[in-house]
Amino acid sequence: MPRYLFREGVDISADGNDMVVTTPYATRANPNRQTLRFKGVKESLKKILKELSQAGIESNQYLAIPEKIESTAPHLALEPQLKMLYKNGLLIHEIDGCNGIAMRLLPIHPGLDQHPYPETEKEFKLSKFISIQPCIEGLDITTPLSPTTLRLQDHRLYPLIQKLVSPCTTEDIRTFLPEELRIQHRDVIAFLLSSGVVGICNTSNNVEIDQEAITAGWSRQDLSFHTHTRGHFIDRCKEELLPKTIDKKTPPAKHQRIILSKVSLPKPSINNQISNFYQIIQARQTIRAYSSMPITAKALGSLLWYSMHTREEITCDPGLPRSYEGLLRPTASAGGLHSIELYLCIKQCIGISPGFYHYDSFDHTLGKMSDLNKPCQSMLEMAVNTTCRAPQAASVSPSQGQQPDVLIVMATRYARNASLHSETGLAYALILKDAGSIYQQLYLVATALGLAPCGLSFGSSELFEQVSGISGKSECSVGEFMIGNPK
Ligand SMILES: Cc1cc2nc3c(=O)[nH]c(=O)nc-3n(C[C@H](O)[C@H](O)[C@H](O)COP(=O)(O)O)c2cc1C
Repeated sequence: MPRYLFREGVDISADGNDMVVTTPYATRANPNRQTLRFKGVKESLKKILKELSQAGIESNQYLAIPEKIESTAPHLALEPQLKMLYKNGLLIHEIDGCNGIAMRLLPIHPGLDQHPYPETEKEFKLSKFISIQPCIEGLDITTPLSPTTLRLQDHRLYPLIQKLVSPCTTEDIRTFLPEELRIQHRDVIAFLLSSGVVGICNTSNNVEIDQEAITAGWSRQDLSFHTHTRGHFIDRCKEELLPKTIDKKTPPAKHQRIILSKVSLPKPSINNQISNFYQIIQARQTIRAYSSMPITAKALGSLLWYSMHTREEITCDPGLPRSYEGLLRPTASAGGLHSIELYLCIKQCIGISPGFYHYDSFDHTLGKMSDLNKPCQSMLEMAVNTTCRAPQAASVSPSQGQQPDVLIVMATRYARNASLHSETGLAYALILKDAGSIYQQLYLVATALGLAPCGLSFGSSELFEQVSGISGKSECSVGEFMIGNPK
């Protein structure tokens, strides 16, 4: 029989005749844990609240089940207060089997809807957006479309998940359940529907709850990343369990690479170019066709100076235990972290020999890491091939793609963002936003310098790893940009 109990982080206190339920949830707008107040509480509700804090209550222990309803699922009978607790993500919902707890719904944040067993015959199927994560107790199954985790604790239920890859009738599910759970197969189906992990099939053979996201073209990975990084609620309880940032110092802003030699870049200048800011914005465009005259070290130096040169090293969050080294550059960066560095694959540049370089944003030099070796050539070839995917294709057809003089690769030291964002989960999302800020800066500065700029969508972390000799786990490429002289 389904049972309900409070999840961790729910605290109950009395305030006169009222009962106050403090939830584990807060928001970025208001970091205090949210509360619910039950006014003029009767003894019966007090008793229920107490039991929910302890062993939990079975669904029909307190609630009359309408006779017409065959299922013991409590959806129609739950008292409004219990419904409110459920909806607010405060109740764990579980079903026992002969080995103890068979399955649990563990709320992640408020907004959980309890689904009834459907009154007409339906087919059921897994959502296409689910992810499965093993844990000590069993398998945790989640979907970004539902604020709960379905935990299968009885391993005899695992094959059911595989079975539900294809549409299943009630009878299919019933016969697939361990024997002692068959009698409550309607409760189990209502439970699975409430989890959002399983849904009712529609005429397009999709799960109803997935349909809107499928129509909008969401992939499982993107929807999961999006939901994970744009959430409204914070689970204070979960946060407390995470390792404290104090234990994990943010890696320093400066990081030495192994270089073969150093090239000093000329001091910057934007003379004789369009220098009115608004004109530059108006003039900015992608240019994919290059003149035979290579760019100069002077132009490259100016591009790098006005895009990425480190103006100042600062201490962020001074005085706090989590204080860390930040940087100020022409581009903005979330938290001043500036975890993105520029690497340059130079095919030709007047004043600088071809090769693969790291831009030292502190002393405005290029550190040579290798000659223009095979992986560098592959990077340049990849850039040409992806240039041809320009939406306004008329400008460059596949056979006309030209290698740029310089391919700029943006690479991030993930650990810098990770240490600061272990709680928010925003590390990678913010890196990509920083990359966007750099793309625009490179575009505008290149326009001001009269260069031909082109951002790229495709890049290979593998090639970057090969050419830089740096492990992709400590530094990985996240963006590419081509530069040459315009035709
Ligand atoms: C992040 C990003 C990725 C891009 N990827 C490519 C690409 O792979 N190939 C390409 O030819 N252009 C690429 N571009 C350039 C866009 O196609 C270009 O900005 C768009 O067509 C609008 O043209 P405009 O820049 O001249 O205004 C990219 C631009 C950005 C900002």
